[in-house]
Amino acid sequence: MLELKNIRKSFDDVHVLNGVNLRLERGFVYTLKGGNGSGKTTLLNIISGFLAPSQGTVEFKGKKIARFAPYRVNRLGIGRTFQDLRLATQMTVYENILLALEKKLFASPDKKQQKQADGILEKVSLSEKRDELAGEISYGQQKLLTIGCCIANNADLLLIDEPVAGIDRENLVKITNLVMQLKQEGKTILQIEHNTGYISATSDLVLQMEKGVIAC
Ligand SMILES: Nc1ncnc2c1ncn2[C@@H]1O[C@H](COP(=O)(O)OP(=O)(O)O)[C@@H](O)[C@H]1O
Ligand SMILES: [Mg+2]
Repeated sequence: MLELKNIRKSFDDVHVLNGVNLRLERGFVYTLKGGNGSGKTTLLNIISGFLAPSQGTVEFKGKKIARFAPYRVNRLGIGRTFQDLRLATQMTVYENILLALEKKLFASPDKKQQKQADGILEKVSLSEKRDELAGEISYGQQKLLTIGCCIANNADLLLIDEPVAGIDRENLVKITNLVMQLKQEGKTILQIEHNTGYISATSDLVLQMEKGVIAC
């Protein structure tokens, strides 16, 4: 469903990606590993449209998307989470999901959307936190919420940057189960992670980023 060919990215004279080739098939979980600064997040930024590659092509469902704006990439079905989360911290957990569902801020949700939002909160184990501010729930719960926003976005490819880094055991188990469930529903996941237990529990394929290329 996603194919990257010869992706190169430089920031001034720093060559971060040096010809990444990658093909993702629908319904699999792929984990990207590699040292700090090896270019993993940069690669997610390129796939999701937040950065343009210096060279190379990104093809999603047969469409060349390398220079599409992030909102267009998102509408095609690619959702992403950020290492630094980027939730609307002054809105409630429920409102964050609604925002991702509707993609606009001030519309009043209809019954169907309300039901959908509650269903997603249940799925990401946050029903009890529904009316709390997103900035006031725990870090692990915030990670769950970012994945909930991707689900609300109706993404079929989820790019998840470090889903379990720095979180408590209880939420780690929840995220592990959630990712397995999403895979079972046919979602495709490309995640960056270092936690070895989590990687072996969830991954179909582990990809190693080294010197700006992916060595399987
Ligand atoms: N927008 C940017 N401008 C300049 N340099 C960047 C930018 N984004 C990332 N880099 C650099 O690219 C390298 C790879 O970063 P990153 O992709 O975040 O690594 P990783 O996620 O593997 O830790 C780092 O040296 C980082 O400083
Ligand atoms: Mg990173």
